[in-house]
Amino acid sequence: MNQHYTRTLVTTALPYANGPVHLGHLAGVYLPADIYVRFKRLLGEDIIHIGGSDEHGVPITITADKEGISPQDVVDRYHRMNLEAFTKCGISFNCYGRTSSELHFQTAQEFFREIDAKDIFVKKKERHFFDPETNRFLSDRYVTGTCPICNYPEANGDQCEQCGTHLSPLELIEPRSKLSNEVPELRETLHWYFPLGRFQEKLENYVRGHDTDWRTNVLNYTRTWLKQGLNDRAITRDLHWGIPVPVDNDEAMGKVLYVWFDAVLGYISFTREWAEKQGEPELWRQYWQSPDCRVIHFIGKDNVVFHTLMFPAIIMAWNEGRKEGVYSLADNVPASEFMNFEGRKFSKSRNYAVYLGEFLEKFPADTLRYSIAMNYPENKDSDFSWSDFQNRTNGELADTLGNFIKRSVDFTNAKFSGEIPYACTEEDWLSLGIDWEDSFRKLEKAYEGFHFREAASLTMQIARSANRFLTDSEPWKAIKTDPDAAARTMSLSVNLCYTLAIVGYPVIPHTSNRIYAMLGFSETLDDALKKGDVSWGMAKSPQLEKGHRLSARSEILFRKIEDEDIAPELEKIEGLLAEIEKKEKENTGDEIHFKPDISFDDFLKVDLRVATVVACEKVKKADKLLKLQLEVGSENRQVLAGIAQSFTPDSIIGKNVVLVANLAERKIRGELSQGMILAVEGNDGRMNLVEVDGTGINGKMVQ
Ligand code: MF3
Ligand code: ZN
Repeated sequence: MNQHYTRTLVTTALPYANGPVHLGHLAGVYLPADIYVRFKRLLGEDIIHIGGSDEHGVPITITADKEGISPQDVVDRYHRMNLEAFTKCGISFNCYGRTSSELHFQTAQEFFREIDAKDIFVKKKERHFFDPETNRFLSDRYVTGTCPICNYPEANGDQCEQCGTHLSPLELIEPRSKLSNEVPELRETLHWYFPLGRFQEKLENYVRGHDTDWRTNVLNYTRTWLKQGLNDRAITRDLHWGIPVPVDNDEAMGKVLYVWFDAVLGYISFTREWAEKQGEPELWRQYWQSPDCRVIHFIGKDNVVFHTLMFPAIIMAWNEGRKEGVYSLADNVPASEFMNFEGRKFSKSRNYAVYLGEFLEKFPADTLRYSIAMNYPENKDSDFSWSDFQNRTNGELADTLGNFIKRSVDFTNAKFSGEIPYACTEEDWLSLGIDWEDSFRKLEKAYEGFHFREAASLTMQIARSANRFLTDSEPWKAIKTDPDAAARTMSLSVNLCYTLAIVGYPVIPHTSNRIYAMLGFSETLDDALKKGDVSWGMAKSPQLEKGHRLSARSEILFRKIEDEDIAPELEKIEGLLAEIEKKEKENTGDEIHFKPDISFDDFLKVDLRVATVVACEKVKKADKLLKLQLEVGSENRQVLAGIAQSFTPDSIIGKNVVLVANLAERKIRGELSQGMILAVEGNDGRMNLVEVDGTGINGKMVQ
């Protein structure tokens, strides 16, 4: 951040309205954004959080087809469901819009028209699969066939579920239409492309300007793309669900904008919607079109280049030649890594997930928010487990924070008729052994730097110090021997409760509101904040004066989670895992489904050789593929392998692998592949190479 901003616009990736959001989404995007926004609101800053549903895209029409309902029904269902879950979780959006709204259609079409009028788009005729049976062009996902890499028979036209390789439908062996199961034919069709390459230099400058403030993962993904050189990207599709391409002639008939082109513009149209609802329809410009506003996109790592390259390029195209109505580019894009669940990746397609709405039916939002904040996948993938959730809730929230608050309020009620019995001095406050200046500086730095795990843990440290102070001071004894000392202890403790309510607010806002009520305030902390009655800085010193009255009612802030409470959950995961394993076994041909017998002679036909990897690089536009150069005795071979998600190119150079050396050559992604190397998928989804120890053995037969 190299400017002084007076406003902030936070956006969160728009989840597809094609399924319920799960804890992985919450951890990577929505909770961190909400924590940040709430912190800024405590500082009294002008900040808005804009999000909503991404309601276009082929998966939605696939769901609709599968269930025999309309795409609109699908998005209505999940929009409502996700909004409800987010609300229950306390994700405080200023607007949660929908890309099916009229204002969004207008905004997206306006962008298309502007860029089209500047003649920036490139039009290309190309051949796509067409299903004559249903009279429709088939988007990638509507084509299925055999994967050219792993031979999985049900690969999708865009990606093989089995080996993860990104595919084009034209690469599938024996393609079929998912609509009719017929063999599709190739037909010519016209599409609009966005020439990303035209903005290469501008984008490079933009990214270079953030060399020091963007996260390493964000810079790395982005630079890899830039280094490969940016290509034209198709931004239209032959589909019946989406925003019609706004061109008034037959060329655009039956075509819609590509979901990503329209989705990122949702950030803008939803800000407009918000402004309209505020009764100030032009207010959105102060966020999008003002150098005083800082734009921040919270996303997951899988969305990085859409936010650091595509969206900025769309904005650059819009801004080109304009003096007015110029949009800002994001100042930061804090992309998270992934949070796993009990050691495995969340997977919607495998139904391996804990859905936010379901979770919140069983456990309170703040216990989840806290546990997830403590597991925020900032720089590396993290893990959420039921036992960690149980331990943190019981040990940290219930025994430390909850216990401290309740003891403070109850004892003051019981022995001092609910009134603060003593005026705390600055000296008393400093004698607590908490370095207030230092703690607050650290907290502020953590929040400003998007280090939410650290922020949550610093907060808990204050609660721990407070709890220890109360326990060590033993007011229940002092009340008999030295009532003044007990009075001082309780005044300090109750003031610490106030501090904790404020400091805890970004992470556990519901709890903060409850503490605030226990402290005797009739309005909620949320309302007090809005009115400017409370602020972050106030938490640094004692605010509650002698004579301040607490509420006579105290409550248990956190109920402990018993083993019985999570037993059904653990059972459920075991069931899910067993199911996944069973499927994996079926797919890998384990004992249950061996392939048919072959003769010994057949086996001898396969020429397996030890090969040494001497060079390796990534394959352009195929994020699962590595191109390996192998030394096999005196020969050299080039092989493409779908293992890029498990290895960096450098990490496999020098390894001795096993090569199926007499497999017929073929082209994958335009590159020659001369054989296959043997690998096994681990339970965590990562590939393991079959390796051979020893030196000077390459070229030897494996038998
Ligand atoms: N729907 C996309 C996903 O879930 C994210 C869209 S983010 C936006 O991966 F920028 F396009 F809005
Ligand atoms: Zn495959």
